[in-house]
Amino acid sequence: MTRAIQIQQFGGPEVMQLVDLTVGEPGPGEVRIRHHAAGLNFIDVYQRTGLYPNALPLALGMEGAGIVEMVGEGVTHLQEGDRVAYASQPPGSYCEARVMPAKCVVQLPDGIDFETGAAMMLKGLTVQYLLRSTQPQGGLKPGDTILFHAAAGGVGLIACQWARAMGLNLIGTAGSPEKCALALEMGASHAINYRTEDFVARVKEITGGRGVKAVYDSIGRDTFAGSLDCLAPFGLLAVYGNASGPVDAFNLGLLAAKGSLYVTRPTLFTHIATRERTQEMADDLFGMVASGAVRIRIDQRYALADVAQAHRDLEARKTTGCSVLTL
Ligand SMILES: NC(=O)c1ccc[n+]([C@@H]2O[C@H](COP(=O)([O-])OP(=O)(O)OC[C@H]3O[C@@H](n4cnc5c(N)ncnc54)[C@H](OP(=O)(O)O)[C@@H]3O)[C@@H](O)[C@H]2O)c1
Repeated sequence: MTRAIQIQQFGGPEVMQLVDLTVGEPGPGEVRIRHHAAGLNFIDVYQRTGLYPNALPLALGMEGAGIVEMVGEGVTHLQEGDRVAYASQPPGSYCEARVMPAKCVVQLPDGIDFETGAAMMLKGLTVQYLLRSTQPQGGLKPGDTILFHAAAGGVGLIACQWARAMGLNLIGTAGSPEKCALALEMGASHAINYRTEDFVARVKEITGGRGVKAVYDSIGRDTFAGSLDCLAPFGLLAVYGNASGPVDAFNLGLLAAKGSLYVTRPTLFTHIATRERTQEMADDLFGMVASGAVRIRIDQRYALADVAQAHRDLEARKTTGCSVLTL
């Protein structure tokens, strides 16, 4: 048996229930993991509310770290006793133990503790594919300027550091003076409080009117139009989240009028569809952490039973950096 967080209906934080579930044995291609920590992500909120649909009842959580307890037939890259971490479908990491597909599970390097492993996989692999593989035409080169929204959040603080390591000037937006200071401390070259300042005007000012080569936007509805206005001609807007709500349909002609722009709506799960690619991306992430270029900040820790408070804090914009459930 395991304690786990499950929902029977979509809704607010109150729909999450702590339940006892049976953990079976792993089938072909699966492993059973005993968690030491689980990561919290904004996608968990979208799944809880039903914005991202899943069948009910639904166990929540997309990120975790722990020890392999049992290995199913055909799994060759993992063994019983391995320290592991993952970011993966299907949901269900808010628990003590689970059975899951092995292909998204990787060995956790000895120098990385379980809480850090649980905090960094979904957010760190996201920054990996955004900054390395979601680039404007001609690529990103040292000295280029990008705009990254929610720069003091879980994904955001990793992006600030990763961008600095790539020699990029990252202009970060954040929702308070304290969050702006944190983004600057972690590698942003400029920070804009988008609750009190006009971020489009500030980006134009910072870039001498040229605009940026790429915008990474996880806010969605509230920032989409402004994000397009921050781009230089041929620039790329990657909308990769919906913290303020999904982006409505828009007139494609806008992209021509604003300078032959590109828009993409990527998801990590396309990038980690194969085991080989997942391992390559994880190796890159582990290398960035091992070198000290990227430090994973865990600013909030919650017990499994306090998961509703964790979701309230995330949605109320009270958190910075990563949050984990300790198990
Ligand atoms: N597509 C993908 O592959 C992928 C993968 C991972 C994450 N994501 C997305 O990346 C974003 C960041 O994820 P995260 O887990 O690291 O969360 P997070 O950034 O730690 O938290 C979300 C932040 O968004 C900002 N925000 C702005 N408007 C908001 C609103 N109306 N409601 C709530 N928050 C608002 C807040 O920061 P301020 O107070 O500074 O504004 C808040 O702290 C999320 O949108 C997530 O869905 C996408």
